[in-house]
Amino acid sequence: MNKRTDGQQYFDTPVALIRYFLKGSIGVFVLSMVFASAVSFLDMVLPRIISFTVDSVIADKAPDLPAFVVVRLEAAGGVELLRSRPVLIAAAVLAVALTGAIFRYLFRYFNEVAAERFVKKMRDSLYGKIQRLPYAWHGRNSTGDIIQRCTSDVETIKVFVSEQLTSLVRVIVLIALAVSFMAGINGTMTAAASLFIPIVIGYSLFFYAKIGNAFEKADTEEGRLSAIAQENLTGIRVVRAFGRESYERERFEKQNSYYTGFWIHLMRILSLNWVTGDVMTGLQYLLVNIMGAVFCVNGRITAGEFIAFVSYNSLLIWPVRSLGRVISEMSKAGISLDRLRYIMNAEEEKNPENALRPPMDRDIRFENVSFSYGDGSGEAVSEVSFKVSAGTTLGILGGTGSGKSTLMYLLERLYPLEEGQGRILIGDADIAQIDQEWLRAQIGMVLQEPYLFSRTIAENIAITSGSYKDKDIRRASKTADLLETVDHFPSGFETFVGERGVTLSGGQKQRTAIAQMLIRQCPIMIFDDSLSAVDAETDARIRAALRKDTGDATVILIAHRITTIMHADQILVMDKGRIRERGTHEELLALGGTYRKIYDLQMAGSEEYALQNAEEERGESDER
Ligand SMILES: Nc1ncnc2c1ncn2[C@@H]1O[C@H](COP(=O)(O)OP(=O)(O)O)[C@@H](O)[C@H]1O
Ligand SMILES: [Mg+2]
Repeated sequence: MNKRTDGQQYFDTPVALIRYFLKGSIGVFVLSMVFASAVSFLDMVLPRIISFTVDSVIADKAPDLPAFVVVRLEAAGGVELLRSRPVLIAAAVLAVALTGAIFRYLFRYFNEVAAERFVKKMRDSLYGKIQRLPYAWHGRNSTGDIIQRCTSDVETIKVFVSEQLTSLVRVIVLIALAVSFMAGINGTMTAAASLFIPIVIGYSLFFYAKIGNAFEKADTEEGRLSAIAQENLTGIRVVRAFGRESYERERFEKQNSYYTGFWIHLMRILSLNWVTGDVMTGLQYLLVNIMGAVFCVNGRITAGEFIAFVSYNSLLIWPVRSLGRVISEMSKAGISLDRLRYIMNAEEEKNPENALRPPMDRDIRFENVSFSYGDGSGEAVSEVSFKVSAGTTLGILGGTGSGKSTLMYLLERLYPLEEGQGRILIGDADIAQIDQEWLRAQIGMVLQEPYLFSRTIAENIAITSGSYKDKDIRRASKTADLLETVDHFPSGFETFVGERGVTLSGGQKQRTAIAQMLIRQCPIMIFDDSLSAVDAETDARIRAALRKDTGDATVILIAHRITTIMHADQILVMDKGRIRERGTHEELLALGGTYRKIYDLQMAGSEEYALQNAEEERGESDER
């Protein structure tokens, strides 16, 4: 692992990343491996007891046991004792089996503990990292894909470490033990039996290398499938509203059948490989048995040794066969690790060094700001300059796509301005120098499309802090013209929003979002088209209440309706990323340009407009 120049961790290889994730669990993994090795060793002891029984208890060959066992045995009464009490042999077998069971349990237990710790570390690291990534990164990456990486790929890596890597170690230990025990019986037979080890491993390595990237492809296709499902579920209202169910279903089914077909194809190749493996190991088994029988008849090995040898050999076969697969599946983990590295190495949102926390109730100045999203679609904002004096209200009018929201994203530094793109100042401070948390905490923004969490309305309003009182929530809701609506709900502010509760209308959502911002009492408040989904009457009522409630705050109002912004101290008219007209309502009307045209259009024959105007005045007289 390296440190980047900007102090952010950088993982230049998959190994570096896995080592990072393993911190905190590696010790437990090693412990589990110690027990696994002990289990393998005990597996070797059983055939040894049987060969001893056959050769020295049933027949009368001198016992061929480790010296310390022989000494004990002689002291207790020698082989004679075992002959008179064969139950002792059974007891020995049982003791070994029981110890083996305990070790196996300990291995499993520690392996699970380590695996869960490992996964927890992975999840925490990823989640933390994703929170620190810039808004632009989230715009570039689909939610489905990110979720896929955080679930499926995390699982793959968990399996890699807790199962594959573990079995690799176990299999190597087992092969080493079995081969050395076999060599103790007969060298020639061991050589013959071992011959198949490299062949089988080599074959499956070759095989899996050939189909190798098929797994990667399967992963990508699975990601696509879940992205479709995810997108569909998130947008379920749109899907229903536009009657696009069958189109969406077809899209899903098409991807689903492609994915299924691909897996079936892959599985057919895999089965073929499996059968080939069966044939190879069958031949090996045959060879070992024939050789053993011949050697036994010739007296080169004893009957007991023959039995032991065959037992060791069968202990060997499955692990060896699985080894090739395990090794090659590790390449799958490599892919998953790379997919996580993509997240873990992504450039984090930078907070400037010695970040400032200046007072924010100051003038806001945009100086020659140009910005492009860098997706080849040209500039979203071009050479924009304006000043909003502290405590005043700025209105921005403009068609969809004219760059209004972009200006606000830039003010919140959701997209940092680079060299040559101009600068934005609050008071004397360039926002590039302002502490990110401070900046965003001081600027309250009601988004065009507010997002509410599946929590209660009260929790949604108080989302930024748990310390708000009911009084604060009610006051903010009153200004946002939400109070009456919510009080009509049976559970009031405790009403659940979203999946598990009521579905709020667009206007109700916007009003909740407004309350959510008002409660924070920020010195800078932005309403990005946030009155678009409420009717003109409510719009007027909210604005009247706002004028009373926003106090000394600097307010930026973005709207389509002229009535929403006409009382602003200054109005900008935007088109294609540029400011076309600026001034007060009266000045702009007198100018006779776009603003005038829009005004006349919106005025024309609109009874609603007349009504709205009347409301407006009533709202104002209330104020007086
Ligand atoms: N996240 C984004 N990525 C790429 N382009 C964007 C993004 N958001 C907006 N744009 C583009 O930038 C331009 C200005 O958009 P926006 O600021 O949202 O306009 P408005 O808020 O006035 O409707 C449009 O051409 C829009 O397509
Ligand atoms: Mg917008």
